[in-house]
Amino acid sequence: MTVCLFDAYGTLLDVHSAVARHADLLEPEAGAISSLWRSKQLEYSWVHALMGHHRDFWTLTQRALDHALMVYGVRDEMIRDELLQAYLNLEPYPDAVTCLQELKERGIRTAILSNGAPEMLEPAVRTAGLSDLLDAVLSIEEIGIYKPDPRVYQMGCDHFSVSPGSVVFLSSNPWDAAGAASFGFRATWVNRGGIPQEYPDSPPLDELEDLDAVAELID
Ligand code: 2OP
Repeated sequence: MTVCLFDAYGTLLDVHSAVARHADLLEPEAGAISSLWRSKQLEYSWVHALMGHHRDFWTLTQRALDHALMVYGVRDEMIRDELLQAYLNLEPYPDAVTCLQELKERGIRTAILSNGAPEMLEPAVRTAGLSDLLDAVLSIEEIGIYKPDPRVYQMGCDHFSVSPGSVVFLSSNPWDAAGAASFGFRATWVNRGGIPQEYPDSPPLDELEDLDAVAELID
């Protein structure tokens, strides 16, 4: 039976909603700060992984924000704290909520498989109202290795005792969809930004513009 695994940040939860909530304090650089925050957060995860010094994603999220605020000359500690607090309460995409509701009604098992640390995933999933719609929230902290390492995708198989071919994996992050496809998942790239295809060696099986049509992918 099919299992649906979701990436969290950028796929179910809008990572830019934290800065958007406090944009008035950061304009005209709000969008640039949010983008740099996200890209440094991801970069730090891979650089630490390659160095063999794992640091949890919440630590890296804070360091990435500090860097982004420094680059744009924002030195107000209160703004920093508000942004971090907002990151623990990110807005879910409306299509994420309806997609999970539909999958639950159809009896399809679902979980998050995320680089996020449990202490950031737990409040974010709860405040987004997703807790009751998911069968599990799986964090890479269980093994201390970041996506797209194949051992992370294996965690999803182990949790549900299924083979990779039984898993529909959904991510808005092209690097994550590529990692999942390379592992053997039925990877779907949720191309929210309408950007060109990347990673020609491991293309996703499907591409959607949001999560509205996910139920149609599942037999
Ligand atoms: C995740 O949730 C970082 O978006 C990535 O795993």
